Amino acid sequence: MASEQKSWQARIGEATDAIAQSFVESISYDWRLYKHDIAGSIAHATMLAKVKLITDADLGAIVAGLKQIEAEIDRDGPKWAGFKPELEDIHMCVESALTERIGEPGRKLHTGRSRNDQVAFDLAIWIADSSHDLDRAVSDLQRAFIALAERSRDIVMPSFTHLQRAQPIVAGAEALAWVSMLFRDQNRLLRLQPGFGEGAEDCPLGAGAIAGTSLPIDRSIVAEEFTFHWESLSRTNSIELTASRDVACDFVYACAMISQHLSRWAEQWIIYMTTEFGFIKIADRYTTSSSMMPQKRNPDMLELIRGRCGNVYGDLFALMTILKGLPIGYNRDLQEDKRIVFRAYDTVSSCLTMAAAIVNSASYDKERIEPTLDRGFLDATSLAEYLVTKGIPFRTAHHIVGTLVARCEKEGKHALSQLSVEAFNEVIDASTSAQSQIANHKSQIQVTDDVYTCLGAHNVVKRYQSAGAAGGKPFEEQLKAWKERLEI
Ligand code: ARG
Repeated sequence: MASEQKSWQARIGEATDAIAQSFVESISYDWRLYKHDIAGSIAHATMLAKVKLITDADLGAIVAGLKQIEAEIDRDGPKWAGFKPELEDIHMCVESALTERIGEPGRKLHTGRSRNDQVAFDLAIWIADSSHDLDRAVSDLQRAFIALAERSRDIVMPSFTHLQRAQPIVAGAEALAWVSMLFRDQNRLLRLQPGFGEGAEDCPLGAGAIAGTSLPIDRSIVAEEFTFHWESLSRTNSIELTASRDVACDFVYACAMISQHLSRWAEQWIIYMTTEFGFIKIADRYTTSSSMMPQKRNPDMLELIRGRCGNVYGDLFALMTILKGLPIGYNRDLQEDKRIVFRAYDTVSSCLTMAAAIVNSASYDKERIEPTLDRGFLDATSLAEYLVTKGIPFRTAHHIVGTLVARCEKEGKHALSQLSVEAFNEVIDASTSAQSQIANHKSQIQVTDDVYTCLGAHNVVKRYQSAGAAGGKPFEEQLKAWKERLEI
């Protein structure tokens, strides 16, 4: 059909082969750019009118036509009749539909523009909006963790290093650990929103196909409207702007980092949901059972969150690999970027929504955590620090507590609090006198009943003093700071 002929048909002697046509098209997925493509076209046309390359009447017709097209796509979605694979992509489909509707003025829209700068621009502003959406989803998840931290401020649990019992913590402090991790994800997303963080990209629109244009366009008009870095337009390079996809890489990397964080959290809770741990309970509606084993209650949603991280890492490596060794200037390889960017966004966005729902339904299981709190010598570091306050050098104190733990194990005691004051002093004496012989002075440090105030997980968490610590006042301050930040 003549009206659906591509603009380059005058040069290319025959119509595109059917196999080639379905191979080359991107409308099946890049239709998602329609709002950004139309917004960019309206801004571009406004600029063309300002520099008198088109008339105000042309502009009026173009804007009205584009708005009508946008409303139709809002209504019909991917089924919109104007999406024609033979027109390849969103840019050609919209432009062709516009010309069908308004005639001559539609044929002026592409003045001083190429699909090469157009697609780079559309993708950059799609990424800016989508970064904003992800940022909001991250905030929702943070709010869920903060609410969990608040519900869990009185629960004391072990922390783990090497997955071995380490020091006691307030359960809420662990919930806040994820909030803090997600905060860095938000900062990465913020930098992708032009006009917000540092490093927002230059505006690609106006770079043309590669070399710019001999027409007197004013790039600052579009750049300013979309809050790109327009002050520095004179140093931006038309060749580079059409050839680079740094913004897409940054975005998919930000997605990959969110996935990494979600997968670590999912794994942590999967372990906590085992019979062996039993530290976390989530609502049944976020579990599944087995077709064969009737007793099962499996954390499948958490496992999928953990697993989907693999897909997003794959997306990052796919994009990086496509860009590797790509010659400067636009190459059609770049069309694949959108498939990857959309997929990474969809995966991360659904994982964030799922995660928030699970966290909102969760609680730390005090009844399961409490009975074994006195196992694993969680208070050993606290005792060493207590001895430091009595004037014993930390290394000596570490040695003393190590000896006391070994003694407990030898005597079949499972906690330091089961030792008598005499037992503490005996070991302190032996270690400090050995040390003072070396230092050539006699020290006489002894403890009293007071030593028991630094023992036991509940006592220990109250003693934490350092900023950001996992209990006591520092925990309450962290919780308060996050609530203020998220306006809870
Ligand atoms: N659909 C293309 C893409 O997504 C648009 C740019 C095509 N430019 C070209 N000269 N073939 O990258």
